[in-house]
Amino acid sequence: LEPLTVNSRRFRDNFESLAKIGDTGDGGVHRPALGDSHLAARRWYQERIVEDGFEFITDGAGNHSARLPAKDYNAKTILLGSHLDSVPNGGRFDGALGVLAACEVLATVRDAGLDLPVHLEAIDFTDEEGTLVGLLGSRALAGQLKPEDLQNPRGGRDRLLEGLERAGLTEEGLFTARRSTDLFKAFLEMHIEQGPRLLEAGSDIGIVGTLVGIGSLEITFVGRSDHAGTTPMDSRLDAGLGAADFILEARKLVRREFSGCVCNTGRAALEPGVLNIVPARAVLGVEFRSPAEEQLEDLGLGLVRQAEKSAERYGLQILVEDLGRIPTSPCSKRVQGAFGVACRNLGLKSISMSSGAGHDTMAMARICPAGMIFIPSSGGSHSPSEFAGWKDCVNGANVLLQATLELALE
Ligand code: GLV
Ligand code: MN
Ligand code: MN
Repeated sequence: LEPLTVNSRRFRDNFESLAKIGDTGDGGVHRPALGDSHLAARRWYQERIVEDGFEFITDGAGNHSARLPAKDYNAKTILLGSHLDSVPNGGRFDGALGVLAACEVLATVRDAGLDLPVHLEAIDFTDEEGTLVGLLGSRALAGQLKPEDLQNPRGGRDRLLEGLERAGLTEEGLFTARRSTDLFKAFLEMHIEQGPRLLEAGSDIGIVGTLVGIGSLEITFVGRSDHAGTTPMDSRLDAGLGAADFILEARKLVRREFSGCVCNTGRAALEPGVLNIVPARAVLGVEFRSPAEEQLEDLGLGLVRQAEKSAERYGLQILVEDLGRIPTSPCSKRVQGAFGVACRNLGLKSISMSSGAGHDTMAMARICPAGMIFIPSSGGSHSPSEFAGWKDCVNGANVLLQATLELALE
């Protein structure tokens, strides 16, 4: 008996339509969370759900779902999905592909007339990318969001409040999205790899074992503003020098002592930001990641210690603010097993791998058996050149479908 497979044509039509929303004309999309184009993508998804005849559900965090209920009202739910927001000028596959693959699983199950003993739900989680908070919708749903996460979010508090207002959401409302954990049988996510390993290994599918933990810091170097022309080079307290030193030394630190880890200074601002004034302040947004929890803590401490050294070297003070921490996330063995069975049934080659990227699976793994798969992608990611071949996209959706059936019927 041939395994049930998704409708490649319908899946692709949906994918192409969605990629037009926030299209940047260079293959990418610009859909930062709760901005206009993201809101348009959310409306598009809602309309699709209703037109396709699924139940539409939403919550206080603005998560949007298609639901295919089981006959038994008390059945558990297998939740599938990802996110429709993008980083600024991002790619069209990151997140969107996983939401549409989830939806395609529901449509395929319904069209085949299968009567499963679980509810199926295909969810678009709000603000996965962290232009506002990061994993906002999934953490809210999983009951992992804390009030303090909203006080000093990665994207700044003003932007968060503006976004919520634009979407008709409120801070208090976010916490009402929490769902009872025993409702979920499993959470499954499909995503592009966003790195080179699957292509290098000649593999069709990556089954994720662990997702990295992520820490973020704001480090401010404080010096003294001065006349850029008259102050001798040796008597300046130039905050920019501390920042520059930190960026270079942090890279050395990670390469020397933290194998398997990464760090990134993705934001930097010199203040007052004027050409003829020695910078009084340099504010850095720093992120670091590790696949091992203890190492993540050590790396965070190491980076702060390095910032202190860099400050001292140039006679500066520093201020450090913690912008939040997402712990490492092991995936469920049972879900990984179901993905493995699915790959074998479909004749696809799979390997086990860890994820260096953040995903909504991190939040869901705290409350139910959760797991995710990657499909091969090229051209990097978080950029318009991100690309996945359609055959691989369909393979991924079929593995998602088969693993869902495997878990539903166990
Ligand atoms: C999300 O894509 C992240 O890893 O930052
Ligand atoms: Mn993503
Ligand atoms: Mn991303």
